[in-house]
Amino acid sequence: MEPFARDVLPGRVVFGAGAARTALAGEVARLGVSRLLVIPSGSERSAARELTAPLAGRIAGTFTGVRPHVPAEVADAARKQAAAVGADAILSLGGGSATGTAKAVALTTGLPVIAVPTTYAGSEVTPVWGLTEGDRKTTGVDARVLPRLVVYDPELTVSLPGPVSAASGLNAMAHAVEAFWAPGRNPVSSLTAGEAIRVLAAALPAVLRDGADPDARGDLLYGAYLAGTTFAVTGSGLHHKICHLLGGRYDLPHAQTHAIMLPYVLAFNAPGAPDAARQIGQALAGAGLAGGGLAGADPAAALQRLAGQLGLPLGLREIGFREDQIAEAARLIEPAVPADNPVPADAAALQALLRRAWAGDPARDDTQAQAAAEEAVTAEVLATFSGAAAPRYREVIQSLVRHLHAFARQVRLTESEWQQGIDFLTRTGHITDDRRQEFILLSDVLGLSMLTVAINAPASAGATESTVVGPFFTEGSPEVPLGGDITGAAQGRPCYVSGTVRGTGGEPVPGARIEVWESDEDGFYDVQYPDGRTGGRGWLRSAPDGDYRFWSVRPAPYPIPDDGPVGDLLTAAGRGPMRPAHLHFKVEAPGYRTLITHIFVAGDPYLDRDAVFGVKESLITDFAEHPAGPGPDGRPLDGPWTSVAFDIVLARLAPGPGEPGRGPEAAP
Ligand code: BEZ
Ligand code: FE
Repeated sequence: MEPFARDVLPGRVVFGAGAARTALAGEVARLGVSRLLVIPSGSERSAARELTAPLAGRIAGTFTGVRPHVPAEVADAARKQAAAVGADAILSLGGGSATGTAKAVALTTGLPVIAVPTTYAGSEVTPVWGLTEGDRKTTGVDARVLPRLVVYDPELTVSLPGPVSAASGLNAMAHAVEAFWAPGRNPVSSLTAGEAIRVLAAALPAVLRDGADPDARGDLLYGAYLAGTTFAVTGSGLHHKICHLLGGRYDLPHAQTHAIMLPYVLAFNAPGAPDAARQIGQALAGAGLAGGGLAGADPAAALQRLAGQLGLPLGLREIGFREDQIAEAARLIEPAVPADNPVPADAAALQALLRRAWAGDPARDDTQAQAAAEEAVTAEVLATFSGAAAPRYREVIQSLVRHLHAFARQVRLTESEWQQGIDFLTRTGHITDDRRQEFILLSDVLGLSMLTVAINAPASAGATESTVVGPFFTEGSPEVPLGGDITGAAQGRPCYVSGTVRGTGGEPVPGARIEVWESDEDGFYDVQYPDGRTGGRGWLRSAPDGDYRFWSVRPAPYPIPDDGPVGDLLTAAGRGPMRPAHLHFKVEAPGYRTLITHIFVAGDPYLDRDAVFGVKESLITDFAEHPAGPGPDGRPLDGPWTSVAFDIVLARLAPGPGEPGRGPEAAP
C-alpha cells in the first residue's frame, strides 16, 4: 500500500426523496438553531416558502438578492441582513449561487450553514468559497463555510430542465474524473470518485430520457454528492485550472466548458496516469458506457459520446471561444498547471489540447496505441545491438537503452527538456580537458560514483572502506622516500601523516605503493593552479614492517568546481558544492585489492553534506594540532603543525586460510 494523507471533512448529510419536507424541520431542531436566515435562489423562492413553513417559528428572515457568481455587494447585503435579524444560522435553498451566498455570510460571521441543494453543483459539501468583484473572482478555502448539514432531496431537482441537468451532471463528473490526479488524491478518494463516475454515467441518460423519473433523479443527485465530497478533499487539477481560466477570461459558460473539456483533458493525462484511466474506464463500463468491453474501454471517447448523447456542445467553438484565443489561453493556463500533473503541460502542449477541444475533434485515450508506438522505438533500437559480439557489451548497452527509454517515458520527456539535456551534456564536454573532468564531477554529484564504489568495492570485513576517486587524480606524480615531503608547491600548515599498511589477517604489507593527493590550505588541487606547478601529491612505498610516513599540508574543505554545468545543476537543486577536508589515498600491493579512499578531518562542518556523498564514518580521523617545535622525526618546525595517524587495512584478493570468504573449494 502506498503511503497517503487524507482529510476527512465534518458535516451531516441527510439523503432521501422528500427529505426536505419530512426531515428538514427535525434536523434543524437537532442543530439547536432558532433564528434562520433563509437564502433561496431566485427560482426556488416559492419552494422555499413551502418547505420552510414547518419551521415558521425558527425563521428570522429571507434574503432574496441571490445572483450568479456571488457578487461582493450581494454578499455584503446578505451579511447585513443576517446581522439585522440576529440570525444564528443560514439556510440556503437552491444551486451553487444560493449555497455560495450562504458561504459568503458564514465566511465573515462564522454562522453555521444548512444547505438544501437543488442542482448537481456539489459546492454544498466543500469548504471552498468564491466572490466576484467586477470581473475578478476570488476563491478560498475556509472550514467555516463548509455546511454543517446538507439535506439532499431528489424531488427538488425534478423541475431542473434537461439541458441544465446534463451540464450540471457533467460538471459533477468532472469533479470525480479530476479526483484521480488532483493534488489531494488518496486511495479512498479514488474509490468514491470511481463510484461517482459509475452512478453519474448511468443516471445522466436516464434523467434525460425522463426528467421526472425519481430513481434516476435520486441516482444523479447521489452521484453529484459523491463527486462533490471527493473533490472537496482532492482539490482541483489540470481540468479545473483550464476551465477556470476559460470561464473567467473568455466568459464561457461554466458547465458547458467543463462538459467539453473533460474528455480532452482525460485523453491528455491518460498516458501519464494509466491506472487512473483504467479505473475511470472501468467505472464507465460499469455504467454500460465504455463500450467494447473493459479491455477496449476508451474512457475519453466514452465521455465524449455521453456528452453528445446528452445534447451538449462538443467543441469550444460552439460556445463562443475563438480560434485566435487559443495561443493566449494556453500561455495563461501554463503557470497554473499543478506541478504533479501526470503529463507535463507546457504552453505548446496546452495549445494542442485546446485546439482539439476548440474544433470538437474526437477525444481519444490513445494510451494503448501510444504505448505500443513507444515500445516499438525501444524494440527497434535494442535489436540493433543484439548481434554485438561481446556479450558483456551487449548486456550493458541494451540495458542502458532500456533504462534511458523507460526514463523518458516515465517523465514524459518534452522536446524542450530533451534539448536542455543535450545542451547540458554539450557544455559538460566543452569544459572538460586534461585538467578539468566535468563528466566525473557529474557522476559524483549524481551519486553514480559512490554507487559504483558500493557495487565494486563493498565493505570487506576488517578492511579500510573505499570512497570516490574524484577528478583530481593524475598519473605521474612525484615519488618521495619514506618520511619524505609531498608538499611541493602547495601552501598550508605542515601535516605529518603516518600509519601501517596491513592485510585483513593482520600481516604487515611491505612495499605497498601509497599514492596521496590533496588540496592546499585554500582548497585547491595543483591541477587547478594556472601555472602547472605540482604540489600536494606524491607516492611512496611502505617499509618492510608495513609502516609509512610522510609530510604534507593540512587539507581544507573546498567547493568542487562549480563554475560549469555541474555547478548549475547543484544551484538548481539548492545543493551546496562543498566537500569536507580530506586526504586522498590509493594503495596498491600484489595479492591485495587496490584501495581508493580518503581520510576525513574529524569535526569538519561539511561531513554531513558532502556534495559527492563520499563520507563514511570509519574514514573520519582525528587530526592533532601541535605548537612550534620538533616534529616526530626531529624536523624543526617554526610554526604550528598537524599530525594524523591512519592505519590502512587491505582486503586480500584471495582470502587466507581460516579467513571469512574462503570456501572449502578454495582450499589449497
Ligand atoms: C575530490 O575529492 O577530489 C573530488 C571528488 C569528487 C568531485 C570533486 C572533487
Ligand atoms: Fe578531494
